[in-house]
Amino acid sequence: MQKHKPLIEKLFAKNYQLIDGTDEIFELDLALWEYEVLSKEELINRSAYLKLVDGIETTHFKTCNLQNIEEIHRNSSFRTKVFFLDGKYSTGYATHSLFPYRGKFHPQLIRALLNILEIKPGNVVLDPMAGSSTVAVEANLLGIDSIAVDLSPFCALMGKVKTFALDLDIKILESIIIKPKELLKKLKREKVPEYFKNNKDDKKRSYYEIVLLVFLDTVGFASRTSSSIDNLFPRVLERYVSTIKYFQEARQKMGLKIGKSKIIQASVLDLPIDNDSVDAIITSPPYSFAIDYLKNDQPQLEYLGYNLDSLREEMIGLQGRGIENKLEIYFDKMNQALGEMKRVLKKNAPIVIIIGTNDIQTNGVRLETKVIELGERQGLKFWLNLQKPIRGLQNTMRDESVLFFTNQK
Ligand SMILES: C[S@@+](CC[C@H](N)C(=O)[O-])C[C@H]1O[C@@H](n2cnc3c(N)ncnc32)[C@H](O)[C@@H]1O
Repeated sequence: MQKHKPLIEKLFAKNYQLIDGTDEIFELDLALWEYEVLSKEELINRSAYLKLVDGIETTHFKTCNLQNIEEIHRNSSFRTKVFFLDGKYSTGYATHSLFPYRGKFHPQLIRALLNILEIKPGNVVLDPMAGSSTVAVEANLLGIDSIAVDLSPFCALMGKVKTFALDLDIKILESIIIKPKELLKKLKREKVPEYFKNNKDDKKRSYYEIVLLVFLDTVGFASRTSSSIDNLFPRVLERYVSTIKYFQEARQKMGLKIGKSKIIQASVLDLPIDNDSVDAIITSPPYSFAIDYLKNDQPQLEYLGYNLDSLREEMIGLQGRGIENKLEIYFDKMNQALGEMKRVLKKNAPIVIIIGTNDIQTNGVRLETKVIELGERQGLKFWLNLQKPIRGLQNTMRDESVLFFTNQK
């Protein structure tokens, strides 16, 4: 029998190993691209898909593989535990797991894109439809500054917490949560707690925002199970605090320098950002009308005191009657969004748009084809469509396109 050399050994040098679960063709493609673009030292410090580089464990592998990960989920439900432990390399590391937001990026994909696009500390990366701020967190983990914009005030809260929690004083957080029962009483009694109205710039505000997110997470969790908020709140709080604490310890040990983030509640159709000021954009718009983000987050938004109807008017993907009219409005908004993105981007800077093929809901219209066309009409140069499969949603969406453009001014 002829001897066979495994694919990985053909692609990478000896003593290089991929992170567990890297088994999709597109992941291999990105891993190889990182391998071609980054130096050995950069691969150790920044790579998304490598576990070993010339026998040395990568920073990313160490970040995913915290010793205490079992302990963090000591009190989680079996489902949550399995979700995070199975997905620790793709969804659950650093602060990404703090709020399990539906439809978020795989953080590893973002890390790989930042590497491939050669975005470094000193650059600013923008996600103008940021959702749970996955791009901001990944950029900050690599020491890169970022701006995250989302129309939803709840997403803005999530983004603030997830980025702030990357680099905080754990002692202050522990001092605030010393009496969880009293905190919960206050949060339940006051709707939007007085603290946030009265202490706009207080240093402790960001710490209290963590507690507020824990509460809102608990509200959602309680509505999906038979457990009460009173029962769940201390457990969710403990999960958040231990996740943050163990990451802080690991970050200090590894000497990670965390970038800064600006989280803004605003519309991509009218970005409060200067012309020619951003070094890269990575974003993912709503996939036409696949998900009603406002309805998903209704309990949280109502608690925060927002009117869903006025947010709905600006939300991409939520207007119109019948498929044709909905699509027309969707593409009109996407056209405006692409124009705004071009305005704030520096010359020759990259823009990556990730969008799902949603042709069952759109009567066969391919969203990515139209987005490429709109981008080119705005003066962006399209140069690559990398296809990736979507797991678990096969009946409505089979794959996503990662579209690469460059801003030609
Ligand atoms: C596919 S999700 C982004 C998820 C994100 N990539 C993540 O990792 O969490 C699309 C986001 O676009 C936001 N969005 C919709 N219309 C918007 C608008 N006009 N301006 C800014 N954000 C908008 C939604 O609130 C939603 O969070």
